[in-house]
Amino acid sequence: MILVTGGAGFIGANFVLDWCAAGEEPVVNLDKLTYAGNLGNLAALKGNARHLFVRGDIGDRAQVEALLSVHRPRAVLNFAAESHVDRSIHGPTEFIQTNVVGTFALLEAARAYWSALPEPERSRFRLLHVSTDEVYGSLGPHDPAFSETTPYAPNSPYAASKAASDHLVRAYRHTYGLPTLTTNCSNNYGPRQFPEKLIPLMIHNAVTGKPLPVYGDGLNVRDWLYVGDHCAAIRTVLERGRAGETYNIGGGAEMTNIEVVRALCRILAELKPGREYAAQITFVKDRAGHDRRYAIDAAKVRRELGWAPAETFESGLVRTARWYLDNEAWLAAVTSKEYQTWISLNYAGATIPA
Ligand code: NAD
Ligand code: DAU
Repeated sequence: MILVTGGAGFIGANFVLDWCAAGEEPVVNLDKLTYAGNLGNLAALKGNARHLFVRGDIGDRAQVEALLSVHRPRAVLNFAAESHVDRSIHGPTEFIQTNVVGTFALLEAARAYWSALPEPERSRFRLLHVSTDEVYGSLGPHDPAFSETTPYAPNSPYAASKAASDHLVRAYRHTYGLPTLTTNCSNNYGPRQFPEKLIPLMIHNAVTGKPLPVYGDGLNVRDWLYVGDHCAAIRTVLERGRAGETYNIGGGAEMTNIEVVRALCRILAELKPGREYAAQITFVKDRAGHDRRYAIDAAKVRRELGWAPAETFESGLVRTARWYLDNEAWLAAVTSKEYQTWISLNYAGATIPA
């Protein structure tokens, strides 16, 4: 069996759902259920004996050690994190706590468990750490895409906390020999993403007649990857990746933010006609320290492990928009009072232009 952390969040839940659909191997899912974790994401697994949900914190070493010793997983996959850049700007403390201190505690628990494993389980064990392309910093318009050897230059408290966690994972491999795998991925989108991130926030605001708040000049570039393709890449790295290696994962779909928002408006006009969605676009104050461009060179994972994304940006965006339109109850459940407080804090002063 495997142990997944953060499996009630966006990518973790998609991963667990795909995992349970694809095979028979059980999964223990450890999640703290922060504002971003949602058991509704796992509703389809109710009654599935191969999925065990446990509420808890990766920073609670005793709890993680107990889970490892009871369930004896062949792998630990670490999705758990504070993940939203804007939140890290308003309040970095939780980011340091979970992403740095929490990852450290998880590594310590995994090291103790793995050190005591008999062969061949010891050689087969893997700890896969899910990280981000933001650790590499920001690219100029003509710079080559981030590769696994690009130097780290994180710019936000979120990116710095993820970089710190990656360094700890690297050190545990180098010093103790722990069989680690690290994946650094570009921007994900798809079903079940909390509507604080660009694409679900725009869909939610569009259909509820609210402003579509584009930061700065809207020309920042992100490299978009459909979440199902990311989950497939993680399964591939887990099964075929070489211990101690890092793999960059990206969709090869660089877009400016304004292009993304306009594409969404076009798709929504077809799927849910009745509003002039593009008229809701409004340019708002820029994010502090806003990275200009991310782009991933995914040649290594393609060449060595044979992974490639299945969705194009357009096909993935249509699937995503359709999912949000079909899952109004999910959106209503997550856009709680706490969500409203976050929106007023982050978007104070944004209005629809006349
Ligand atoms: P998310 O914010 O949607 O979900 C994070 C999950 O982790 C939530 O379920 C939350 O309850 C849980 N969690 C938080 N703190 C925890 C703790 N201390 N112990 C246990 N569980 C805890 O995040 P996501 O977008 O699904 O991202 C998952 C991982 O992928 C993160 O490590 C993130 O850095 C990385 N990543 C995300 C993207 C993206 O575009 N979303 C891209 C690249 C990498
Ligand atoms: O690159 C991978 C990273 O992608 C992950 O590590 C992070 O967890 C994930 O949140 C994401 O970070 P970004 O900051 O790129 O994603 P976000 O959806 O917050 O923003 C995408 C772009 O859209 C960014 O340039 C900021 C802009 N934006 C975002 C919001 C929420 C807007 O213009 N308006 C908005 O309201």
